[in-house]
Amino acid sequence: MRVFILGGTGSIGSPIVRALIERGHEVWALARSEASAAKLREGGATVIAGDIAAPERWTARLPLIDAVIHTACDFETGMAAIDARLLDALLPQFAAQPRKPRFLYTGGGWLFGATGGDAATEATPFRPVPAFAWMVPQLTRILGSRDVDGIVIHPAMVYTPDGGVFRRFARDAVEREAIRVVGSEQVRWPLVHGADVASLYVLALEHAPARSSYIGAAIDGLPVGRIARAFARRFRTRHQEPQIISADAIAAELGEWARGYALDQLLSGARARRELGWRPTHLDPEGEIARLP
Ligand SMILES: NC(=O)c1ccc[n+]([C@@H]2O[C@H](COP(=O)([O-])OP(=O)(O)OC[C@H]3O[C@@H](n4cnc5c(N)ncnc54)[C@H](OP(=O)(O)O)[C@@H]3O)[C@@H](O)[C@H]2O)c1
Repeated sequence: MRVFILGGTGSIGSPIVRALIERGHEVWALARSEASAAKLREGGATVIAGDIAAPERWTARLPLIDAVIHTACDFETGMAAIDARLLDALLPQFAAQPRKPRFLYTGGGWLFGATGGDAATEATPFRPVPAFAWMVPQLTRILGSRDVDGIVIHPAMVYTPDGGVFRRFARDAVEREAIRVVGSEQVRWPLVHGADVASLYVLALEHAPARSSYIGAAIDGLPVGRIARAFARRFRTRHQEPQIISADAIAAELGEWARGYALDQLLSGARARRELGWRPTHLDPEGEIARLP
């Protein structure tokens, strides 16, 4: 398939680009800078230069495509308006294609809010972190669109042993005397390795029915204190106890969206396993942290 990806250099997008190329798909990717364009070309993609905030400038340059994978987001306060304008520009473009493309939209586990003891499934009503509430009407629009076959993926928190949602821990391990944890050590994070979330996108691209949604959680929920302690052990930080910081403190440092780090959640990836045959292979993040070079 010819696939157009937005956000192909991100935590979610870069392993997807790798997985698509490995599967023999033709990848076209949006890049807003020369540095991102170079990374994408190196990975085997054809680049369209452009910014999601100004879609009118590049949508006309898109070739006929079979699918779009949207994983771009700048995490600034304008992200709701930017995403709405992006869909306003993209969807009519696809309506004019002879064959309806598939459109994989990225939601996220944080749209389900704190879950208590029962893992959220695709049927659980949304209770989004306020900074991401705008995603709900956007994904509803994609699922209901007549211009594309819409599919929504809700990734859990995406990690690599020293990247993605673990990058802050890896940085604290080197730069500070303790690893900082938001809220409490008992807060549970649903997790998925970047390579596993990429395999889910590829399966959904190739097999998911139109108007379906899938949660991409390989691990339903791991107490974040265990992850912080794994980093403290591996890097022998001066204080092995995590340092607890508040949601207000992380929001002041990174933006309102970062309050999601304090959510205590369980998410179920059972539907993707059952319906798409998804088999995540990274199920031991603490072991992967221990083996970091
Ligand atoms: N990471 C997670 O754990 C996770 C979990 C669930 C859902 N999500 C959702 O997934 C989406 C992507 O998250 P992420 O963690 O992969 O983000 P990320 O690592 O920050 O990557 C963002 C991507 O979007 C691109 N981008 C940002 N602003 C752009 C602009 N103005 N024009 C063009 N491209 C732009 C970036 O390109 P550059 O190379 O130019 O920076 C990068 O490729 C977000 O909506 C997020 O809420 C993430």
